[in-house]
Amino acid sequence: MKAIVFDQFGGPDVLHEADIEVPQPGPGQVRVRVKAAGLNALDGKIRSGMLETVRPTTLPAVPGGELAGVVDALGEGVSDVHVGDEVLGWSDTGSYAQYALATTVAPKPAGLDWQHAVALPVAGETAERVLNLLGVAAGETVLMHGASGAVGTLAVQLATARGARVIATAGPSNQDYLTSLGATATVYGERLVERVQALAPDGVDAVFDLAGKGALEDSITLRGGTERIVTIADFGARQLGITFSQGSQERSTARLAALAQDAAAGKVVTTVTAYPLGQAATAQQVSDAGHVRGKLVLTVD
Ligand SMILES: NC(=O)c1ccc[n+]([C@@H]2O[C@H](COP(=O)([O-])OP(=O)(O)OC[C@H]3O[C@@H](n4cnc5c(N)ncnc54)[C@H](OP(=O)(O)O)[C@@H]3O)[C@@H](O)[C@H]2O)c1
Repeated sequence: MKAIVFDQFGGPDVLHEADIEVPQPGPGQVRVRVKAAGLNALDGKIRSGMLETVRPTTLPAVPGGELAGVVDALGEGVSDVHVGDEVLGWSDTGSYAQYALATTVAPKPAGLDWQHAVALPVAGETAERVLNLLGVAAGETVLMHGASGAVGTLAVQLATARGARVIATAGPSNQDYLTSLGATATVYGERLVERVQALAPDGVDAVFDLAGKGALEDSITLRGGTERIVTIADFGARQLGITFSQGSQERSTARLAALAQDAAAGKVVTTVTAYPLGQAATAQQVSDAGHVRGKLVLTVD
């Protein structure tokens, strides 16, 4: 099968197309004929080698942790998914490929296309996990740093659906985008504390840092301490006594299925930019630059 592979760590140009063996599903796994693969900032961090001390990768490797596609083979013991089912979920093997294996998948509603479906698994689980960790409730005000990316697009909507008010940061070109998602928008950078205080004179109840770009000290000032601040991207968090939430293994088919239904019904929107599989290096270059609106995806023939 055709796949995108890297056999050394480095920049996006280490990614190349290769012909590799089609993977065989083990117990509890399904094999999926991939229609769309989701890009995550994590893919570039793994490819660069920066995570080798904490999360070693065996080379050669196929990137990609989420997929949408059609089930084409079942491993032993799988009874709730059938060959021919259209699904979305997390991949156990790299999803930048024509076929990948998966353990946790949810049905793709007919009204949701492949590209928008693959925007949901990682971003949806992350957004929901952190909002739960922060205990965001109706009537509260949440500050989100860097909310115009894949996770932020869903986090803003899931928080406002809980009845919370969201103040969200992004660059100047994404202010209208944040507003369209339901947030009160402001730019990141200088005088952030004063600007947020002006927007929320009674203070912010919780802070969700999605950017990892040095906003934690401002967050402590705004919260008056380290309570109810969570980051998913700032590796300096623990030194400041702030919670870093890691990718969770508590993946839920039921919650992903419900999110997919909401997306198909238009209750949750995603924004995607798609590249063909062969342009994975270009897509990762865009992702590495860190100014993506919504989700980058790869389409697979
Ligand atoms: N720990 C976990 O479980 C977990 C799970 C998923 C993702 N992540 C991490 O979370 C981060 C966000 O991922 P993502 O896929 O949503 O999006 P992303 O591609 O990393 O981009 C997020 C947003 O950050 C904004 N941004 C850029 N520079 C900024 C700055 N200096 N201050 C504030 N915001 C800034 C960008 O807005 P503009 O374009 O407007 O500049 C962009 O829209 C990544 O680092 C990813 O690796 C962690």
